Amino acid sequence: MNAAADAAWWQRGVIYQIYPRSFQDSNGSGVGDLAGIERRLDYLRDLGVDALWLSPIFTSPMADFGYDVADYCAIDPLFGNLAAFDRLLAAAHRRGLKLLLDFVPNHSSDQHPWFVESRSSRDNPKRDWYIWRDAAPGGGPPNNWISDFGGSAWQWDGVTGQYYLHAFLPEQPDLNWRNPGVRAAMMDVLRFWLDRGVDGFRVDVLWHIVKADGMPDNPVNDGWRRGDNERDRVHQVHSTDQPEAHAIAAEMRAMADQYGAQTGRERVLIGEIYLPFDRLSRWYGTPDRPGVHLPFNFALALSRWDADGVGRLIAEYEASLPAWGWPNWVLSNHDVPRIAARLGDRQARVAAMLLLTLRGTPTLYYGDELAIGEVAIPPDRVRDPREARQPGIGLGRDPSRTPMAWDASPNAGFSSAEPWLPLHPDWRDRNVAAQSGNPASMLSLHRQLLVLRRREEALTLGALELLDAPQGVVAFARTGDGRRVTVMLNLTSRDVSLDWTGQPLLSTHGECAQRGVLRADEGLIVA
Ligand code: GLC
Repeated sequence: MNAAADAAWWQRGVIYQIYPRSFQDSNGSGVGDLAGIERRLDYLRDLGVDALWLSPIFTSPMADFGYDVADYCAIDPLFGNLAAFDRLLAAAHRRGLKLLLDFVPNHSSDQHPWFVESRSSRDNPKRDWYIWRDAAPGGGPPNNWISDFGGSAWQWDGVTGQYYLHAFLPEQPDLNWRNPGVRAAMMDVLRFWLDRGVDGFRVDVLWHIVKADGMPDNPVNDGWRRGDNERDRVHQVHSTDQPEAHAIAAEMRAMADQYGAQTGRERVLIGEIYLPFDRLSRWYGTPDRPGVHLPFNFALALSRWDADGVGRLIAEYEASLPAWGWPNWVLSNHDVPRIAARLGDRQARVAAMLLLTLRGTPTLYYGDELAIGEVAIPPDRVRDPREARQPGIGLGRDPSRTPMAWDASPNAGFSSAEPWLPLHPDWRDRNVAAQSGNPASMLSLHRQLLVLRRREEALTLGALELLDAPQGVVAFARTGDGRRVTVMLNLTSRDVSLDWTGQPLLSTHGECAQRGVLRADEGLIVA
């Protein structure tokens, strides 16, 4: 599997996540759309990424901005229609870009016809497609499960006198994956998009899709304090990561593989799974019964940014991988703070070098290539339901979802109308046009890193060995194809003496590297 000749496109490639509402608006709605993405495909090809993953574009009341799907096989009119989708897919393929969709199997919208039927009466044939329970004997919710967005995970439904389960918003009822009808219908959804030619899926909250039989209370988290995320009041032992879910992942994988084999075009499945490494690695499945190709590794997005910690997590992650498991890395996404908001401009450059030189498939989040940083969202512009349900404790995701900035024209070239979320404050200077012409910009650094990654087989597919390094520095070697490429990253803002050897290939500081030192906030690649 690691031999270069056998490597699949998703092992060599770099994935780029687009939040469609915020990439490019083409019709003056203030919200991005598919025709807008199509207009920007040349930018993505020139950037040097290989695949685009679109957050959900399906019909949705947008209670959770598309993660509440009312029709899995149609495009929301805000984004376009199926014809616009087919055009986008063909245009991406013409440029050699793959396209991945966001499949949301754990829950639908409460407006989905399946749920409308399910809630209509207790004996409706779709009743069991969702998870309905009587009130607890003394009244109240059936168990102590907490929604990831705060509050009980159970919603009372007066019409039929039962509660239904929602791991997220009440507008996102959980589907019952123990029901064979649900399973078959959802596999049909995958087939629908695979037949249209998509190259794979990112699977939303995959580790949530099956709940423990009998649904016992989750163990209470004694460490929880008022002001913490309500989700963490309990440990999600019985509501997530059930063994039965692996069989479902394997079924999805078998379908993806079957399409790959039939068409000679391999399809990829990426699982959104927030778990520690030992449990994450199980989602690769086994050689006989593979699970998803890439269980998302969010460690870098969630951990403290210091050399010891980062070095340790690289070692622990690598050690946790089964022999058949291909690694992957993520710095940020639409649910967590942007990398430059967390680390500032200088360390964001070091982080970009890390992401694009580690072993495994990187996923780059739109706008991070410009180092879009903090965006303050005024209270009257908050859109994220997670912030709305637990205000003021730092859970809001709007700051990570603001529009892409293309140039210095009104609304940054994103839209002819006021965008649905504000732009970052420095968009007039921090935009694609401004950074394109500047060899020292974050965008240029990304382009250079992506060229280098593609050119150096050692970086694309080579082995990784962590190296001893002075305090504050993460260093590793990538070897392959007879080359040894060394990456040294100074995670501090002071110069560190370091006797490196070899020819510099790229420094985050642009101008020539200096012997005997790794400068403050410098990342350096030598060979
Ligand atoms: C995933 C998505 C997130 C969404 C949630 C519920 O975590 O990334 O944006 O709110 O699932 O669908």
